[in-house]
Amino acid sequence: RLFYDKDCSLAPLEGKTIVFIGYGNQGRAQALNLRDTIKSEKLSPVPKIVIANTKDSYASKADEDGFGFTSDWATAASEADVLFLLVPDQVQPGLFNESIAPSLKKTCAVVVASGYNAFYKFLNIAPSNDVVMVAPRMIGTSVRSRYESGQGFPCFVSVEQDGTGKAWDVALALCRGIGATKGGVIESSAKEETLMDLFAEQAIWPAIIATFREAYSALKAYGCSDEALVHELWLSKEPAEVFEKCADDGFIRQLIHHSSVSQYGQLKGSMEVDVGPLKKEFKRVAEDRILSGAFAEEFMGLDKNGPGVEKALESLYEKANQTELAEGEVRVRERLGLKSSN
Ligand code: NAI
Repeated sequence: RLFYDKDCSLAPLEGKTIVFIGYGNQGRAQALNLRDTIKSEKLSPVPKIVIANTKDSYASKADEDGFGFTSDWATAASEADVLFLLVPDQVQPGLFNESIAPSLKKTCAVVVASGYNAFYKFLNIAPSNDVVMVAPRMIGTSVRSRYESGQGFPCFVSVEQDGTGKAWDVALALCRGIGATKGGVIESSAKEETLMDLFAEQAIWPAIIATFREAYSALKAYGCSDEALVHELWLSKEPAEVFEKCADDGFIRQLIHHSSVSQYGQLKGSMEVDVGPLKKEFKRVAEDRILSGAFAEEFMGLDKNGPGVEKALESLYEKANQTELAEGEVRVRERLGLKSSN
């Protein structure tokens, strides 16, 4: 199902207290959009927006934007009719279960922007509460800028728990409130969202990274230079342009922008790749890592009883930087005097 403005009444938000836990990337954009909708649609009684945040630079931003903030999680939770949980996924279970859940109203709707913690059931939410997913497919700055320019943005919606029997009404009102329904909001589920998101991160992009890494070493062994390889494979931004054309013209149709030699090579080659090992790998990642919960358990365990996320990432970066591709690129960037943007 697809939902547009006309399918979503804002009435379920009237007179409600809507609490944002977190004022970061998504929290700020969604709170600003909602405040503007409340004003422009003249909701009455006017819903109250509360920002709950630890005292940090994000909280100062909430102050600057005229919301103010509270760091009293328990009071914010006890007042919330709707509670957006918009802190990083790995922070949510600890914060929610310890500081928010004990004070939550029995009928409060808990809103997540990714399926992760809802699908893996890491949040202790009473059966009487609603749990809805409103998950923009955009970074926060785009959620805000598209709203300001009168456009919607791609967004998934689902009801994961309908404690009040009215969770769908609230979910759709929120989708409209944050401005997503102008472009059509897609019905999904925490399971689907988590599977696709983690699959892209753990199967698709790793296959792409490994393809480039191995291609680099293979072509280097045939005598290609670092300069030529780095430019040919990504520095020219050709792959970025191809993906942009995939979105503009169609995944296959964009091939018409390439030469006949290229079109023939790409189409024939893609039919000849031995996809057996790839299919096996995709099944392993989807079933043994994502759906089984093994990845989530491993990742959440890093901070609890492992080396910590930061240390684990450090060691993975160290390995990735010791490949021919990474070392070759360092030499080329140094010779060309290219600086990274971060
Ligand atoms: P973020 O990284 O921008 O979060 C920052 C916020 O979390 C700040 O308010 C900060 O004060 C708070 N915070 C951080 N650590 C904390 C801690 N230990 N205790 C208390 N508060 C803490 O988060 P982001 O990226 O907005 O993500 C929020 C949710 O939105 C996540 O579920 C994420 O998966 C989802 N999402 C994010 C998208 C993105 O573009 N970043 C896109 C779509 C969904």
